[in-house]
Amino acid sequence: MRKIKTLDLPSIEKGRIRSKCVNTFLYSYEASDQLFDELRNKHYFIRTYGCQANIRDEETLAGFLNNLNMVRVENENEADIAILNTCAVRENAEDKVYGEIGEFKNLKAKNKNLILCICGCMVEQPHVVDFLLEKFDYIDIFFGTHNIQDFIKLLDIYIQDRSTRIVDISSKSGDIYENLPVKRLSEFKAFVNITYGCDKFCTYCIVPYTRGKERSRDIQDILNECQKLKDDGYQEVTLLGQNVDSYGKDLDSGIDFAHLLEEVAKLGIPRVRFLTSYPSDFKDNVIDVIAKYDNIMKYLHLPVQSGSNSVLKKMGRRYTREQYLALVDKIRAKIPNMAFSTDIIVGFPNESYEEFLETADLASKVDYTSAFTFIYSPRKGTPAARLVDNVDYETKNKRFKELVSVLEKDVSKNAENMVGKVYPVLVEGLSKKNKDILSGTAYNMKTIHFKGDLSLVGKIVNIKVIESHTYSLIGELVDE
Ligand code: 5AD
Ligand code: SF4
Repeated sequence: MRKIKTLDLPSIEKGRIRSKCVNTFLYSYEASDQLFDELRNKHYFIRTYGCQANIRDEETLAGFLNNLNMVRVENENEADIAILNTCAVRENAEDKVYGEIGEFKNLKAKNKNLILCICGCMVEQPHVVDFLLEKFDYIDIFFGTHNIQDFIKLLDIYIQDRSTRIVDISSKSGDIYENLPVKRLSEFKAFVNITYGCDKFCTYCIVPYTRGKERSRDIQDILNECQKLKDDGYQEVTLLGQNVDSYGKDLDSGIDFAHLLEEVAKLGIPRVRFLTSYPSDFKDNVIDVIAKYDNIMKYLHLPVQSGSNSVLKKMGRRYTREQYLALVDKIRAKIPNMAFSTDIIVGFPNESYEEFLETADLASKVDYTSAFTFIYSPRKGTPAARLVDNVDYETKNKRFKELVSVLEKDVSKNAENMVGKVYPVLVEGLSKKNKDILSGTAYNMKTIHFKGDLSLVGKIVNIKVIESHTYSLIGELVDE
């Protein structure tokens, strides 16, 4: 067994604690000359699982390694540092990681100097860290979501004695780090964090434990980041938070999400989006700001999770189906072309078929443009995971398929309604399936494929939709 140097270990109990205090620090660590010498021109590989917050974290990690003059590679076989940036939100996300760690054993055997790191939400769970430490002794560095700013320091420690593994996973989450390096994955669209963590503690969700307490970045730091993106020619910025609507609650500055959104819109970035909204925190002044600015996309991701009041209550969601539907109506009254998407969990413990049908009914009442559906996955340490569940997986799977077919009716119909109309589309790149075709995204996050020159990538062009499928559309370029 290799030695382990433990700087900090995660704890679900500590992850649950919510203190008032938030400290903002400026990042300033300088890598040692030895680290620079050992890693200069070497290759790094990062694989990210899960949500946008993880993608944004990947960009910070890439920024650190670029500053060491390392080169990014997309093939793990060529890596000198490999990072697995993990997700814990459902069991299948974790299983994927467990499956893929195995392949690094051979790579380590081939390249003795390969440094294998694991970070992200999975390692914020004590039972996962115990398992990983025991089962995969070729993982060299473990660091948590609250320890990203220490990554270079951890590399510095590790290279002093490569036989010792390093574990630095904290569950204390009062801090915000500004000034961290960033290497963006895209040259034309970007995620900008506005809050970290979550205080909602929905009973099924592990995120409040893995990402810690909710804390808002200072508005000026956010605006500076957005302004720089605009100056660099970015076409789209997405403001990120587990619950963007609670932005500013911890700042005592009187600034709320509507104010922040308006200030960002005023910078004049061509497209502004935000993720994720929490129904009962969504305020009327946000509707007014979205309506007022053409560059705020008329698209709202508004997770409902369930359409049954009894299930919503057990989930700890703080609204009823009636309140959710009333909010959708209120938004549509002011912004008739608003496209809605949602997250829905099927098979919460003991969900009855009647309760499930209420979800299916709500789904068809809202008329979603897109939807993300999940089968409930128990997460160790959450209140829901302690419930005895009398519904078997097969039944849940059947309901899941039933819900998907209900949702697909509206998703297809809304796609069909786009046929014959012209939409500004942000061109993202070559289509994944056909290399002669470009793909782009309309205001409502719908993907449109069309013929066009590669030089259009990263630009917003007008596309007339000529054909619709459930999950994508086909269009043609319209002359300006
Ligand atoms: N099981 C299934 N889905 C979950 N989500 C969060 N926790 C769980 C869980 N334990 C879903 C929710 C959330 C989305 C990001 O993931 O729908 O909105
Ligand atoms: Fe999880 Fe609920 Fe927070 Fe979303 S709002 S991250 S579902 S606890």
